[in-house]
Amino acid sequence: MTDTPAAPVPAAPPATSRRHLLAGGAGAGVLAAASPVLWVPPASAAARASGVHLVYGDNARTAMTVSWSTPRSVDRPRLEIGPDRGLGQRVPVNSRSTKDLRTVYHHGKVEGLQPGTRYRYRITHRGAGATTGTFTTAPARAERFRFAAFGDMGVNAAAAAHVRLIDAMKPDLSFVVGDLCYADSSGGTGVGGPDTQDFRTWDRWLRQIESSASRVPWMTTVGNHEMETGNGELGYAGYLDRFRNPRNGVKGAPVTYSFVYGNVAFIALDGNDASFEIARNEGYLGADQDAWLKRRLRRLRKRDDIDFIVVGFHNCMYCTNLVHASDGGNRTRWEPLFDRYSVDLVVNGHNHCYERTHPLRAGDPVVEARRGAVVDSRQGTTYLTAGGAGQAVYPTSGSPLSYVTMDGGIRVPETTLWSAVTDNQHSIGFVDVVPRRPGRPARMKLTALATDGTVIDRVTLTRG
Ligand SMILES: [Fe+2]
Ligand SMILES: [Fe+2]
Repeated sequence: MTDTPAAPVPAAPPATSRRHLLAGGAGAGVLAAASPVLWVPPASAAARASGVHLVYGDNARTAMTVSWSTPRSVDRPRLEIGPDRGLGQRVPVNSRSTKDLRTVYHHGKVEGLQPGTRYRYRITHRGAGATTGTFTTAPARAERFRFAAFGDMGVNAAAAAHVRLIDAMKPDLSFVVGDLCYADSSGGTGVGGPDTQDFRTWDRWLRQIESSASRVPWMTTVGNHEMETGNGELGYAGYLDRFRNPRNGVKGAPVTYSFVYGNVAFIALDGNDASFEIARNEGYLGADQDAWLKRRLRRLRKRDDIDFIVVGFHNCMYCTNLVHASDGGNRTRWEPLFDRYSVDLVVNGHNHCYERTHPLRAGDPVVEARRGAVVDSRQGTTYLTAGGAGQAVYPTSGSPLSYVTMDGGIRVPETTLWSAVTDNQHSIGFVDVVPRRPGRPARMKLTALATDGTVIDRVTLTRG
């Protein structure tokens, strides 16, 4: 971003008062005569856009949604996009209000873009200066790229440091697996009532991530903290006010979608629909999500141009951390599909720690993958817990015993021979993808970095 101030925009006086003054309403002359400095030029009369964030459209190669907020409703919100400073394309803007705040969220979805192309955008509304930025569409074919993977960020010093780390690492996109800002701290349990909610947290979080999210897409899905009490039937209204995901997911579940970047297919699922641990939304999609997932995996696995499939959702399928451990709901419903269609990497959060499994089939490790290992991911699926993006970390037990939560919330003890690496520092996962070359398989090189950039884990998955 070049024009957006880094600090929060101070609140302007209500627009009605200003109009009243400038229109010469009662008292305006007196105020103008006594205090001429009250007059402000139109260019700064309204707060600029903030919290700008990008999300791929239905096709990551040709479509992008630019979203932003204003402290209140504004006249003529406008988005212009183009390959150069001339911009050239006006994009229709959809504006919507949200529960309990005056903030208004604006979304402009542009389609028909060229793959692998850098575009400029410009956001304005009447009376405010422009906010400008750039983005690049996904490439037409496989090329080297990097994505960040994490969840459980919140608004805090560690999270802010991680945004700086992400900025420094320059990923092409972030894949964020829920528990985004914690505007509702009850986490879908319904315990605590209104005292657990402060929806201003959303705006603080969007400002916190803006340096990254305004330049590269943040592809997010919901965690248990996006199930906000009293905010829509599923609690997702707050999330959906602020994020417009690709519309190619499960019917009736706009928190689910898939997209392709280079030789990697990403699938975002709603883990809450399959959770036995926090069952508020359990089963709301019936069998639809599983059927969609099966169709999507089958279709993606048939494509010659896709090597890796990465699935993201919030709840952990395999994690030893005793706070939430593993969720038998997600495991029961999706593990057979992940095995059948040879999913390479599953990204989860929820447990505020780092953990990686050996490659698994039917819950059993099929090959050892200690730190630094290179493994053929056709042998088994690697499960990653990347829940250390900012919220207070959970201590690891170090015990080879953990538990899996089954139907009804029953915790069943289990041994954890599947666990390869655990670490209870804050961390962000970065994955470098290298396309296949003659004689060399495609590679996904996962590096988990602590807040200060120290490497806490590395593993390379190959396929080809
Ligand atoms: Fe969390
Ligand atoms: Fe969570």
